[in-house]
Amino acid sequence: MAGKNSVPINTETVLYGVFGDPVRQSKSPLMLNRAFQETGVNAAYAAFHITPGTLRAAVEGIRALGFRGVNVTIPHKLEVMQYLDEIHEDARVIGAVNTIVNENGRLTGYNTDGIGYVRSLKEETGIQLAGKRVLIVGAGGASRGVTYALAKEGPAQIWIANRTVDKAQALAADLAGLTQTTGMGLDQITDIKHEVDLVVNLTSQGMHPNVAGVPLDTSWFRPGLVVSDTVYNPLLTRMLREAKEAGATIHPGLGMFIYQGAFAFEYWTGIPAPVSAMREVVEAALAGA
Ligand code: ATR
Repeated sequence: MAGKNSVPINTETVLYGVFGDPVRQSKSPLMLNRAFQETGVNAAYAAFHITPGTLRAAVEGIRALGFRGVNVTIPHKLEVMQYLDEIHEDARVIGAVNTIVNENGRLTGYNTDGIGYVRSLKEETGIQLAGKRVLIVGAGGASRGVTYALAKEGPAQIWIANRTVDKAQALAADLAGLTQTTGMGLDQITDIKHEVDLVVNLTSQGMHPNVAGVPLDTSWFRPGLVVSDTVYNPLLTRMLREAKEAGATIHPGLGMFIYQGAFAFEYWTGIPAPVSAMREVVEAALAGA
């Protein structure tokens, strides 16, 4: 779909891409090309299937070919850090890079997943995070980024519940300097559930093809509670459907994907991201998938 300001590819075109393995399922090329069209930026964004042994050479390629920016996805978010010139503090604490900015051959790594999540949560639910009590379910890579970004918003308490308790406790310890954090097992959710203002799923429970999965018991969900999922395939997970039925405010996972891309676009171009056009094209692609 050509936007109203579509610019043809020519010798001035600035190049971008996403490095992943697998990568053909990625909606980033669709979303970012739409953003460039909408804003009239002469740029093109493609998907690159980079297998683990070739990541270093691919990063050298960013410098050699003068790409302005690259997104990095599974499984490269950690390994890529050693090939960059600078790592932004957030990405260093999270331990993962998903966005690279090339400033005249000098590559800086950022992590826009966590801040993208928080911006989406605030814009879509209107929640004020300061003083809130938050229950995070999951303690893997995605949880690290999101929980760190949430912790910086000044909540009163973050409980991190995970199937593997050690990982929840380790993440809670890493973030203890930012807010009150507690790591625990999934069975301990029942002890604190009536104190919770916001629940966030950061496990793969409910994700296609396991659409019948729920990360936690939802029988205590109530009006006034905000229930947020980071799974966006399907767009409305079982947990969110049950939350809606209980009268809770829901926050679907697609927003995190859109806003991590919005921040990347803004770092690269300095232009506010055309978020609604980006969302529209991704929703249409997922609906037709
Ligand atoms: P991601 O990068 O998406 O965070 P990950 O690092 O593999 O992926 O983390 C997956 C998360 O989902 C973990 O919290 C994992 O729990 P464990 O740490 O105990 O493995 C959680 N998870 C995955 N499958 C699960 C299941 N069937 N029940 C409960 N938690 C599950």
